[in-house]
Formats: sequence, C-alpha cells, structure tokens
Amino acid sequence: MSHPVHPAFIGGKRVEVDRTVDVINPSSGELLAVTVDCGPYEIDLAVQAAAAAQRAWKKVAVAERARLLRNVSVLILRDWDELAELECLQTGKPLSQARRDTELTARYFDFYASAVETFYGTAFTLGERTQVVTTFEPHGVTAHIIPWNYPLQILGRSLAPALATGNCTVVKPAEEAPLTALKLAELVLEAGLPEGAMNVVPGMGETAGAALTAHPGISHISFTGSVEVGRIIAHAAADLLIPATLELGGKSPNIVFADADLDMAAPTIANAILQMGGQTCSAGSRLLVERSIHDDLVGRLQEIFAGVEIGSALEDPTLGPLISSNQRDRVLNYVEIGSSEGQLVCGGKRLSGGKFGQGYFVEPTILDGISPESRVFQEEIFGPVLVVTPFDGVDEAIEFANATNYALVAGVWTTNINTAQRMVREVISGQVFVNAYGASGGVELPFGGFKESGYGREKGAEGLRGFVQIKTSVVVS
Ligand code: NAI
Ligand code: MG
Repeated sequence: MSHPVHPAFIGGKRVEVDRTVDVINPSSGELLAVTVDCGPYEIDLAVQAAAAAQRAWKKVAVAERARLLRNVSVLILRDWDELAELECLQTGKPLSQARRDTELTARYFDFYASAVETFYGTAFTLGERTQVVTTFEPHGVTAHIIPWNYPLQILGRSLAPALATGNCTVVKPAEEAPLTALKLAELVLEAGLPEGAMNVVPGMGETAGAALTAHPGISHISFTGSVEVGRIIAHAAADLLIPATLELGGKSPNIVFADADLDMAAPTIANAILQMGGQTCSAGSRLLVERSIHDDLVGRLQEIFAGVEIGSALEDPTLGPLISSNQRDRVLNYVEIGSSEGQLVCGGKRLSGGKFGQGYFVEPTILDGISPESRVFQEEIFGPVLVVTPFDGVDEAIEFANATNYALVAGVWTTNINTAQRMVREVISGQVFVNAYGASGGVELPFGGFKESGYGREKGAEGLRGFVQIKTSVVVS
C-alpha cells in the first residue's frame, strides 16, 4: 500500500518537500503515514509567512481575535472523531484518552479566547499632566516545538495563547506524531484566521527543529521535551536573545502518609503512571510511602496492575504501546537497572506476538525498595514503571520528595491538615496536589517546573503572559 505524503503547511498552502519521514503506528509497528523533513528553505518560508500575517493580526481587535479562536474550538469539536482517531493511531494512546485530549485542545481555544478579553494593561497618572499606560505587546513570530506524547494538547496550550495575544506561529511537531498538527492548521485557516497565522513545518529535531530555533525572524520559543534538547533550545534562544518557555518533564512523586485514604489514593496513583504508558511529563513515576502502610499500598497497586488491559490503541485498552522501539528498549533497560538497584515486584517484560504483533508493548511494572541514590529514582524513564521508596516521618518524606533534579508535579496523600500544609510549603514543585493527582487536563492551572523541569509557565490565565512584553507609554500634556 502506498501512502500519500503529508506535506508542510505554510502560508495557508500545502508545500511539498523532497525529503520524507515515515510515521509508524506504535500499536502495530507498521507504516501509518509519510510526512516531510523541512529544512532551512521551508523554515524561512514559514517564518516569513508568519511575519507577514502577524503585521495585520496584531491590529485585529481583541474581541475579533477571540471570536475567531472560538471558531477554532467549534471546528475541533466538529472533527472530534477524525482528530481523535489520528491522535490515537500516531501516538498509541487509548482512543478514549485521545478523545479527551482533543476535547481539551478545543477548550484551550475557548479558554484563551475568554482570558484575552480581560487581559488588560494598566493606566495611571504620574503627576497631574503625566499619563502612563502599559499595554501587552505580542512578541511577533512564535516557534512551537512539540513532543509526540500529547501532540494536540501540548500544541493547544501554547498555540491558543500565542494567537490570542496577537502573535503568529510556526509549529514543528514531533517526527513521530505530526498528523494532528497538520490537520489543526487547516482548521485554524477554516476558522477565519489569516493565512500564515499557523504554519506547520514537520521534520526531524536536528534538521527542522534546529533550523527553526536558529531563525532570526522568530521572537519566542515554546519547547516541551527532554532536558537534553531543552539545553540546546536554551542556547539557541540565547544566541537570538529571545525568551523561551521550557517544559522538560519530571520524576514526580506521589507521597502517601499512613493516615491517607488508600481507597482513593491507590487507583489515582496507578493511573498517574499508566496514563499514556507513563510517557507523560507529569507522570507520577515515584511512589514515596510511609513504611507502616507500604505492604498494603504496594499490594493494592500490584492487584490493579495485574488487571490492566493492554492492547492496540484503537481498541481503547487501559494501556497502549510505547511510542517506538527505541522508547521500549530504553524502558526495558531501566527495568533491568532497577531490578538490580531494588526488587522487581511485577511486570517488566516486553509483550509481542499474538494480539501484540510487532507493537511496542511493555507490561506495567513496579520496582520496590529503591533508594534515592538509584538511577531509576533520579532519571525519567518515560514508561509504565513505578518506582517505590519507603520513608519514615514527614522530614524524610520532604527530603526524598526533593531529592531529584526535577520538580514538576507532586501528589500528597494525608488526612492530617498540618502534614498537608507543611508538604505544600516544603515540596519543591511547579504544582502540588493534596489528595489528588492532576486535574483532568488542568487548563486553568498554571503549569511548569522548577529546577531541571524547566522554566516559564503555561496554562491558566498566567499562560498569556509568556506571549507578551509590556510596553510603557508616558504622555505629558
Ligand atoms: P526530544 O526532546 O528529542 O523531542 C522533543 C521535540 O524536540 C521533538 O519535536 C523533536 O523533534 C525536537 N527536537 C529534538 N532535537 C532538537 C533540536 N536539536 N533542535 C530543535 N528541536 C529538536 O525527546 P525524545 O527524543 O522524543 O524523547 C527522549 C526523552 O525525552 C523521553 O524518553 C522523555 O524522557 C523526554 N521527553 C519528555 C517529554 C515531556 O513531555 N516533557 C516529551 C517527550 C520526551
Ligand atoms: Mg530526541
């Protein structure tokens, strides 16, 4: 079967490129689609198209920009089935998760349409004849480098506020999962935004990504991905002297005290590491558990993991495949390391053949008795692997919680208000949840990391601030 090539989308038009990239269906290991690998020439076209569109877009009244963003939301929901199926096929995420992700992407456009309508500067007098006005000015052309784990959601959370505040955009989707970004660009155009408001330049990180982040025509970079590439992006931003927002993942703990409600905690903790096969920036990949309830909680989790339905993403299992054979092998390697650093409680094996075919499946896994010095405690595995460490008392819980270079999300489970408040104060983390983990997408909640989890905040009304600079005007009359 031959696959049509999905070209770049620049200035409202499809742009062919000679170099191609295969997109693989991780549930089957088979070719799903073919897209292109943009280089400096296509990147330059895209940045020019965005810059031309931005000159007019920034002058469009805020109410009108908001109206057009709401149109995008309506069109995403109109094409909900198609987008969700594409997202499911290219990422291997269970269909119902892909449907939720699609809905959340629509919500980002609604949310920022509303938020930008009350996003005012200030005005004050500095003396009887001196009026000061501050206004929010767009950066210009914003670059968006997107990973493969939540292609639509992560794109929505930076694209919607960027467009709302008057920027125009160039998007470099992940080479593994570029299809929904290309489809979204068509919807943005259909919604009535100008040609060039959203350009998509698919391709590899080292080619398309590097060319985009080196282009002097961009004024801001949003990046979500690995710490390693985050550093490269930060250097590129420094060379251009432009701001960047970096969301670089985590090693986020669920911290469970002896007085916690385990009926509530156990299923949430399981979901926090199994969602998208643990390939989530905010995955709850560490479990810190007070020693007296360790056996009880680990037993409950083992039972939940044993009942997890694993399968092809379109069949909507609880757990789908990992994104690639590379990622699968990386995860299996960590399981091996962890098995010698502590004990393998369950899972840890690759699944293939039969209904798993050539897909990239790994069993849900628990590694127990892992000390804070261990590699599997410190490093982001990005797979369905939960690492368990017992602790004694609140001081040690805080010490262990803060003992990695990451600091993105933490969950605290306790019925003691004093313990809860102390943990909220002392755990270093971009977000802290008490008796919860995550908040169904969390569109309203500012999100981003401390330490090597990155810098800058996305989501929530705060998310608008990253896409503007303040201009102060002073008029004396
Ligand atoms: P990555 O950081 O290489 O890829 C993320 C995005 O950056 C992709 O669009 C990629 O094409 C682009 N990119 C790569 N090199 C680039 C460069 N030199 N210049 C500009 N753009 C570049 O992550 P990868 O290789 O997909 O996964 C490796 C590990 O990174 C994972 O195992 C996981 O630990 C972490 N990761 C974290 C994510 C998160 O949500 N925070 C998402 C994806 C990966
Ligand atoms: Mg990479």
